[in-house]
Amino acid sequence: MKKDLILCIIVFCAACITAGAQTDRMSLEEKAKCVVGWKREFFPDTNKGVCARTVPFPEYGIPTIALADGTSGLRLSRRESDRSTAFPANIALASSWDTALSREVGAAAGYEARGYNINVLLAPGVNIMRNPLCGRNFEYFSEDPVITGKMGAAYVAGVQSNGVATSVKHFSCNNQETNRSHVNTMVSERALREIYLRGFEICVKESSPWTVMTSYNDLNGVPMQENWRVISGILRNEWGFDGLCMTDWSISKHNTAAQLHAGNDLYMPGCDDQVEDIIKGVNDGTIDIEDLNRACRNVVKLGQRCYFTTPGQAPDLNLGAAVSRKAACESAVLLENRGMLPLPAGGSAAVFGVRSYDLVATGNGSAYVTCAHISQINEALKEAGTAVDAKLEDLYKKYVSFARADFDYNEKSDISIGKPLLPELEISRKLVEAAAESNDYALITLGRTSNEGEDRVLEGDYYLNDTEKNLIKDVCELFHAKGKKVVVVLNICGIIEMQSWKDMPDAILNAWLPGQEGGAAICDLLSGRKNPCGKLAVSIPVDYFDLPSAYDFPYDQPKQGRNRDFTEYKEGIYVGYRYFCTKDLKLSYPFGYGLSYTTFDYSGLRVKAGSSKVSVSVTVTNSGSVAGKEAVGVYVSAPAGGLDKPAWELKAFAKTGELQPGESETVRMEIPASWLASYDEAAATWKRARGKYKLRIGPDVTSPAIVSGFNGK
Ligand code: BGC
Repeated sequence: MKKDLILCIIVFCAACITAGAQTDRMSLEEKAKCVVGWKREFFPDTNKGVCARTVPFPEYGIPTIALADGTSGLRLSRRESDRSTAFPANIALASSWDTALSREVGAAAGYEARGYNINVLLAPGVNIMRNPLCGRNFEYFSEDPVITGKMGAAYVAGVQSNGVATSVKHFSCNNQETNRSHVNTMVSERALREIYLRGFEICVKESSPWTVMTSYNDLNGVPMQENWRVISGILRNEWGFDGLCMTDWSISKHNTAAQLHAGNDLYMPGCDDQVEDIIKGVNDGTIDIEDLNRACRNVVKLGQRCYFTTPGQAPDLNLGAAVSRKAACESAVLLENRGMLPLPAGGSAAVFGVRSYDLVATGNGSAYVTCAHISQINEALKEAGTAVDAKLEDLYKKYVSFARADFDYNEKSDISIGKPLLPELEISRKLVEAAAESNDYALITLGRTSNEGEDRVLEGDYYLNDTEKNLIKDVCELFHAKGKKVVVVLNICGIIEMQSWKDMPDAILNAWLPGQEGGAAICDLLSGRKNPCGKLAVSIPVDYFDLPSAYDFPYDQPKQGRNRDFTEYKEGIYVGYRYFCTKDLKLSYPFGYGLSYTTFDYSGLRVKAGSSKVSVSVTVTNSGSVAGKEAVGVYVSAPAGGLDKPAWELKAFAKTGELQPGESETVRMEIPASWLASYDEAAATWKRARGKYKLRIGPDVTSPAIVSGFNGK
């Protein structure tokens, strides 16, 4: 282990020295070209969905680096030969609360990237879900920075184990898509540090990503890409980031000199004007040559860190498919189960909802993956021996193929950007009545997708539309009248309103955007072949307007002004459950919530508070009758110490392995003492309060399995 570390340090130092030596010999023009990316248009024959490349300099041994999206697997072109695995979106993956799984998914995505000669995978997204309507929430992990950072760091480690770089994005405070290139995010220093930067910080400190992508938005009046204080001051100097910073794909040119000086090393996707700006700037003294040298060295260093292959065989996609199915099973959250699940073997199902036949595997935009197949719920049910109502199946399948022919867009584009959601189909009560007569139970799938560049809306998206409301109402009413049960499967990119309908069906399984194996995974869970073990990494409020950020978010799609030109994060650190717990508000489902087919007992809690960390261990026993896994969260309530504090904050978590009935496992978790501190803006420093710290242990923040405490010095 020690030997490996020494070897790493030697290789790394050698890379820095050779990076310097290589760039020393370059002319000013070569240096300028080295830090400006090449657009896709310039290399059509090698384009497989590559978003951009760097310029090669063979005379100095500097290769071209290929960069591709995305956050749910590798995004390639639409060509038949360019297929890759769609994994569950990060919003799903986070619900597994399993960092080992996140690493495994990252490793599988990195393996495919490497197989296709991609050197940088533009993932993971680690922005905070400040508001559920953000169009890219599905690419992010959570409303909480610790789960975001830990899952993100594990993903980074997995991808990079293949010699493929990650690009942790979008740094930072890119929490809405409306006017994303220009909106001025106004956030307090405390919230910035404790909430919005912490996930990035954990990724950097725990997994050393080789690149970070700076975001489009302004931060407190300064364009993020020109923000020296955050990019160089915090990311590089405070946290010790030693990789490359690239700009997010700016369509129009910004202030080239300021972007470089702030700490960006690579302009993406790059344009000729930027090369000219750099040459001119260095010549007239507005650009410091040392900034350019740094950027150049970092590009060269990135090339040295990445693994390059010669074009060979495409990767084996069966490996990704197996990981994707496992991840989808572990990520789904069972929200309700009133004696319905697991379903008995065989039987007949009336399968409603377009998404039962046309699953949304991934979200749209740069996260969209063109996978080889998508496992559909109706097909998976049949494969498992369930008789699916043929009349309904025929109706829905005809609708899907007819509507898709009309609806698919961007088929001609060389790069995949996604599929729009087909509108839900209206089903007459007569048809539902007939289905209730002839089937054992009903399954309804409801779906949502979203896209980068725009946010979700309230009507018909966050709130169910009338067709969906009627479908749930009619199916529940008519099946219940016959003494038959109804399960709703959610295939969603982000949370939706549930309070008004969640008591109608007998069971609700939230599968999120589960990736290409979604149908099979959902059936594994419904049938009990797998036991649900996902827990929400986001709160589901009773209503949208209970959210602390509700009015400071573009929910009504403003054309200008507030929430378009600027968005004030007035809630400060009170994001998600930090707000709901502090205000003691009722929720539809709290952070950490999720049911299982078994039960778990907690015992033997040990808490040891040292000067550098607090160690927590607890024994979890499967007290039910089927095998299962349990996610364990450690929530801390800190003494105020002069600053206001959220009632509870997640500071550590772990997941047990699969426990057989009666089996126990002791999970060990550590909280770095520095995470107990709050950022004191007046003193511009972190402060740890002395006194009694309370602890809640268990998955769900509102109803913990065990409570305790320790004295903080
Ligand atoms: C997105 C990035 C993405 C890049 C390249 C940008 O519009 O914000 O997340 O990596 O495009 O496709």
